Amino acid sequence: MSATMHNLLKIILAGILAGATLPTVMSGCNDCDADECCSPYGYCGTGDEYCGAGCQAGPCNDIDSTPTSPTNVSVSDIVTDTFFDEIMDQAAASCAGKGFYTRSAFLEAADSYPLFGREGSIDDSKREIAAAFAHFTYETDHFCYIEEIDGPSKDYCEEDACPCTAGKGYYGRGPLQLKWNCNYAVVSYDAGFDVLSNPDIVASDPVIAFKTALCIWMDSYDMHWSIVEGYGFGATIRQMSDGWLDCDGGNSTAVNVRVEYYTEYCNRLGVAPGDGITC
Ligand SMILES: *[C@@H]1O[C@H](CO)[C@@H](O)[C@H](O)[C@H]1NC(C)=O
Ligand SMILES: *[C@@H]1O[C@H](CO)[C@@H](O)[C@H](O)[C@H]1NC(C)=O
Repeated sequence: MSATMHNLLKIILAGILAGATLPTVMSGCNDCDADECCSPYGYCGTGDEYCGAGCQAGPCNDIDSTPTSPTNVSVSDIVTDTFFDEIMDQAAASCAGKGFYTRSAFLEAADSYPLFGREGSIDDSKREIAAAFAHFTYETDHFCYIEEIDGPSKDYCEEDACPCTAGKGYYGRGPLQLKWNCNYAVVSYDAGFDVLSNPDIVASDPVIAFKTALCIWMDSYDMHWSIVEGYGFGATIRQMSDGWLDCDGGNSTAVNVRVEYYTEYCNRLGVAPGDGITC
């Protein structure tokens, strides 16, 4: 994402935080020193927590200053009906996700993220698509779940900086199971549609559901960058809001399940999984 875009988003966020109808520039990222990064939640500091995934401004690790244009790879030629259906067919007929998550909704959402699967080599494209679908599969159990099981009974509202809307729950929704109010806030200003005040839309509109996942992937937590820069699938597990705790021996079973899906999808797409597949 360009620095200009980050500045724009910062202003939009300031507007959300102020609850104002006109965006107003508030303190937050503006208060950071030149050598500090602004974290996804608007705090200044150094180190991965501030400069890593989701960093909004300053010397972020993940800001690529050279704008890139997409390659001529066709995502729809890689995500064929067969590829999509082989995943979906493993979900039981009774699953809420049946008929909700569709290939056409995915492709429509991907149109809004032209660099998804379209940066670097053709192998990078296939690996990125395999990686994204591996996480979709893990998070939703083969597109079975739209919403987290027992989600409404869980409290995912914290951090004063991202005001929760009364009566709304910030539990897991969509292909990457977006959860926590501040993650809904980050996606809201990255994606340009407001899922902080209306989180339910992620579970009722399949295109929004996929756009939310792709926004996390491309902008908010930058898994795209990890694949294109060659950090490997393991780095994308670390960037998942419920994946990083499993790394470094936290839950090797959970890591292995994601890695198995990834290697299986790489095989289907005829590409080597590459380095750094675990974490
Ligand atoms: C994509 O670009 C490559 C390299 O420029 C070219 O060889 C190939 O024919 C293009 N493919 C399509 C489908 O346009
Ligand atoms: C580890 O992950 C697996 C697979 O997701 C899960 O079934 C299990 O409950 C997890 N173990 C712990 C201790 O959280």
